[in-house]
Amino acid sequence: MSSTMMTARRWQCVRCGAEVPMSTWMPFRCPNATASDRHHALGIVDEPRPVDLGSHEQPFVAADAHLAWAACADANGMDADRRRALVLETDDAVRAVDGTGFHVTPFGRSAVLSDELGFDADGGIWVKDETGSVGGSQKARFLFSIMLHLRAAEELGVLTDRPPLAIASCGNAALAAATLAKAVDWPIDVYVPTWMSDGFGNRLDQLGATVHRSERRAGDPPGDPAMMRFREAVDAGAIPFTVQGPENALCLDGGRTLGWEIADQLRRDGHEWLDGLFVQVGGGAFASATFTALAASGLDIPTFPVQTEGCAPLDRALQRAAERGIVDVGFHWDELMSVWDAPTSLADGILDDETYDWVDVAHSLRIAGGASVVAAESTVVEAHELAIHAGFDASPTGTAGLAGLLHLLETDPDRFDESSRLAIVMSGVMR
Ligand SMILES: Cc1ncc(COP(=O)(O)O)c(C=O)c1O
Ligand SMILES: [Zn+2]
Repeated sequence: MSSTMMTARRWQCVRCGAEVPMSTWMPFRCPNATASDRHHALGIVDEPRPVDLGSHEQPFVAADAHLAWAACADANGMDADRRRALVLETDDAVRAVDGTGFHVTPFGRSAVLSDELGFDADGGIWVKDETGSVGGSQKARFLFSIMLHLRAAEELGVLTDRPPLAIASCGNAALAAATLAKAVDWPIDVYVPTWMSDGFGNRLDQLGATVHRSERRAGDPPGDPAMMRFREAVDAGAIPFTVQGPENALCLDGGRTLGWEIADQLRRDGHEWLDGLFVQVGGGAFASATFTALAASGLDIPTFPVQTEGCAPLDRALQRAAERGIVDVGFHWDELMSVWDAPTSLADGILDDETYDWVDVAHSLRIAGGASVVAAESTVVEAHELAIHAGFDASPTGTAGLAGLLHLLETDPDRFDESSRLAIVMSGVMR
């Protein structure tokens, strides 16, 4: 396959506009990001073209021509056959550890949810079900593109040793990261808060991860100590194996497969439209990658990023932008996005105290319409119960998108009607 078929063109910072060629190895952070100025994030500039998944069940094989890791490998001389072999071989190794490999996950109308919420036969709630994906959530998709980039760098002789992988997380991202690391036998350090449960620590131990309980040290600045230890490890040479775009832009690459799948599945069903897609927002990579992928597929579906009343830094930043008449939010990142004090919610996987990947979410809202939603805590609980009733084995974090949908149906009853077609993503199996 010639390189002209690849759609990813270059990396570009959503804050300062710095450009990085697609052929660059380890394009993790914006070249202008510094220890004291982290508000930069490389985004993928590509030629919008719908992804046809064809008959492939492996989304990373199907979307090869669209993926940034593949464009980099291609530009450095790895042809399509070798890339395909690399994906399949790495995926087999993941399957051997997790019991499941990467596959196109189900997307369909939930009769129970649609009936419970009073939709008619034309409308309803469509669910993208990520609970059966690698590690039980969408997170592994984001890490697989980083892993493929590293494995390609090894194969082409660019990476000759294996610096440890590093991640700060105590949830689905840590589990996904440890699973992928074990699959390829790559050492990984997981930085976790002191309050992480022993049960979860044991699972990470079993996957061979080195777990670091990170307490606050004298002299630490305010903020998450696990994140601080993670950054120190990266400064000392570890590879950021994380689902936060500003720390490693390559995560957004693989995350886009989820949006491409939804677009392709809608097209196959003969309905190329939804009246809204609700996505729960923690660090924001999930929403950012999904909305961006839908737009690249030619679907400007109204966008509903969801946070909870106990932690809504994205919503606050968007409100500030609206009040101040700011459109180019990336340029005003420092002024608009600030740390949320004492985040709290039953949806504890989306308690990131600032939204890292938010500039593209703001962009999607502007282009495709929709609204930022802040769900009441009581609705977070209600949504989780409803999702379980409808047969989804998802955590309160993974049903928070449904909470946003319920919240909007209650607070803005005229926005949709019975024949509206709305979608959510269920993710994160209960542990
Ligand atoms: C199930 C689930 N959904 C959504 C999210 C939020 O993703 P992001 O941090 O990319 O916004 C998380 C994060 O941990 C998660 O575990
Ligand atoms: Zn920058």
